[in-house]
Amino acid sequence: MKTGAEEREPAARADRPAPGGLTRRAFLLAAGGAVAGGAAFAAAGEGAAQPPPVAKVPSNPFLGTGGAAFTVGAPCLQAPGETTMGVSWAVSGLSKGVVEYADNAAFRDAKIAQSGACGLVPVDVAALQVRLTGLRPATKYWYRTITTPFTDYANIYNAKLGESVVSPVHTFTTMGAGAAAHFCVINDTHARWKPFQMAVRKVKELAPSAVVWNGDATNTTQDKKTAVQTFLDPPVDDRDWSADIPVFFENGNHDFRGSWISKKEEVVLPRDAAERRGDQWNLKWNFAVRLGDLALIGLDSGEDKPDAHPKWFGLANFEPYRKAQAKWLEEQLARPDIAAAKYKVVFCHIPLFAAEGSPAYPHDGVKIDPHDFAYWSRECAGLWGPLIERAGVQLVVGAHQHRFRFDEPSAARRWAQVVGGGPEYGTNDASRFPTVVEGKIENGRLRLRVHDVFGGRVVLDRFIDA
Ligand SMILES: [Fe+2]
Ligand SMILES: [Fe+2]
Repeated sequence: MKTGAEEREPAARADRPAPGGLTRRAFLLAAGGAVAGGAAFAAAGEGAAQPPPVAKVPSNPFLGTGGAAFTVGAPCLQAPGETTMGVSWAVSGLSKGVVEYADNAAFRDAKIAQSGACGLVPVDVAALQVRLTGLRPATKYWYRTITTPFTDYANIYNAKLGESVVSPVHTFTTMGAGAAAHFCVINDTHARWKPFQMAVRKVKELAPSAVVWNGDATNTTQDKKTAVQTFLDPPVDDRDWSADIPVFFENGNHDFRGSWISKKEEVVLPRDAAERRGDQWNLKWNFAVRLGDLALIGLDSGEDKPDAHPKWFGLANFEPYRKAQAKWLEEQLARPDIAAAKYKVVFCHIPLFAAEGSPAYPHDGVKIDPHDFAYWSRECAGLWGPLIERAGVQLVVGAHQHRFRFDEPSAARRWAQVVGGGPEYGTNDASRFPTVVEGKIENGRLRLRVHDVFGGRVVLDRFIDA
């Protein structure tokens, strides 16, 4: 059994070598009671050793993995901040996990972060989540996950651990005014894996500082397994696409659909508690973060029909949610670090603008019509538009329409709007293709490019004026 002395091991012993190339503290935290038996560590994706055979696999997965093979997904970087970074990953059975990280490739003075802020360390049968805190802004870190299954958890006194799985080493750089001003956007991926693979391959190729996943990642989510596949372990070649590139998530309307979806934060880490004031606690994924000369601001447009629409069965309460975000947005835009950014870019799933007289214009998300859905949100535009205008935001990045579009700024609306494409591609409609929207500061100017990842071409390449 793990002793109290081991749990309070002084930092001076932390770098003593241990099996698997881990620091001794990482080894102890990961393996717990298995240390005494000298359990071998297996590297994820490198011919991991099979756990010892056990006769029975419990029908309740929370009683342990039993004799089932234990597998671990690639880590996914989520909710990046200047001093924090979330790491989530898929697991095949009951397990605990830690992240070992350092500001150098040799893992000198490495630290360990456990699940949960403090108190009881959460375990789970499908996804583990760890938040690293106290990081330095705009700083590169090396990290790896260490995951240990409970083969038997009939009760805590008699629980048994299996062999730990150590992931390959990955890296990330924290956000901040000193970080490289380069972002990408994917949107409306809808768990359609062919276009998803095209998009994430392009993201890996472009290697931005961060990705904004601008909504409609899902369709309808009825269980945690579906959410884990969508957000953490997609069945594509580049399933490790977010192991080295952090992801800001924003909801689309579909990300509010399904009987399990209200528990999404068990899979997609919300923003760190230190960023979320009590009265704004429900704005779980809103972000306002500096990335070099850019300020990136993420808003959530909610569902695409009015709350009173009969399709929602009384489950939609987005009108106060959008109002709360107007207050939040006003405060974020007034933050000195955000106000000082040369370029301010706002992200939200449902576009904030449609030209009067255009086919999209009547579909504004306001009227209750069983056959209608919003092409743009008049309500969000009314609440947030004046604040965006006053703060001098230069660009709004939308999604939802499944068709790339760019709206030039005008005298009445000084910000440009770009809308990313959706998952449709191929023969039926050549104007529909999946995109990666890319923004990068080059020679002090924001260069906006839109990549058609199906056609392998760039459909927009221009600078945005500050
Ligand atoms: Fe969509
Ligand atoms: Fe949508």
